[in-house]
Amino acid sequence: MELRHFIDTSDFTKQELLDIIHLSLKIKKCIKTGYYPPLMRRKTLGMIFQQSSTRTRVSYETAMEQLGGHAQYLGPGMIQLGGHETIGDTGKVLSQLVDVVMARVIDHKTVVELAENCTVPVMNAMSDYNHPTQEIGDMCTIVENLPRGKKLEECKVVFVGDATQVCASLAMITTKLGMKFAHYGPKGHLIPDSPSAACMAAIEKNCAENGGVFEEGDDRDLVKGADFIYTDVWYGLYESEMPKEERVRVFGDYQVNREMMQLGNLGCKFMHCLPATRGEDVTDEVADSDASLCWEEAGNRLTAMRGLLVYFTRYQKDGTEAEKEAVKQELEAFMEERGLA
Ligand code: CP
Repeated sequence: MELRHFIDTSDFTKQELLDIIHLSLKIKKCIKTGYYPPLMRRKTLGMIFQQSSTRTRVSYETAMEQLGGHAQYLGPGMIQLGGHETIGDTGKVLSQLVDVVMARVIDHKTVVELAENCTVPVMNAMSDYNHPTQEIGDMCTIVENLPRGKKLEECKVVFVGDATQVCASLAMITTKLGMKFAHYGPKGHLIPDSPSAACMAAIEKNCAENGGVFEEGDDRDLVKGADFIYTDVWYGLYESEMPKEERVRVFGDYQVNREMMQLGNLGCKFMHCLPATRGEDVTDEVADSDASLCWEEAGNRLTAMRGLLVYFTRYQKDGTEAEKEAVKQELEAFMEERGLA
């Protein structure tokens, strides 16, 4: 089994992404019944964070614990990444010390360079370009909440607001899976205007190869027919600060409120990657409504991390029972001989 990294869902086929989603849901089912499969036993995850995080950090750490492994938090300023040590050297060193690495980075190039130098799997836990682990968790939530009688390919997901890396990621995975995706946002804040602009080529390829549909613009009619309405903070976390007054002027018409939800299909669900800026990108009424999946979605970050960790480390196999017995005997003989036993 070859070493693979999880940097961009575009590197994976539709079937591979469905396998990761369904593996994640199967492990979730096991854990719900009280069976904790020890699939990460004796494995260690190195967690590099250049930014703060609630969901990503906690879900990775919990996932490792539940599957019998261990996680090390390497927070901002805690390791020598790109400071006294190059990103490449950090990758080479961590590969000797842990079994799998995840990195939340400011600049997408950092996680790409890390992966190029690591000999263990590297997972992109969000960059300014994309957020692929969020994509897997979100698809788990969508699969669990499909409108009655509808297949995945028949569903429409509408992202409302700023073209954040979460918006771009959602566009990539939904079109790869053959779904309809629309982004309703203001001119100047559409995907081609964002740090994720390069993903447009992948989206177009997905639509051509997998039957996905992509639409984008400031026409409110794009929200019509939505099965899922999704939003994120206005003017994403990685961009330079936009004063509140300016944010409200640019994005005010794009708040997900009761009227916006009514543009979707009957039974339309609300999704948000969180954190939300309540009263800006979403009203309390919608975030706390029965139609809101955002808490379930946060829970499925854990579902996704378990599936991803197992999927990307499955090639790391122990030796045979005979090999283990041979090294055990060698160690015991050495210790006996040197009086260390
Ligand atoms: N959605 C998300 O990635 O949340 P955190 O920034 O808290 O990890």
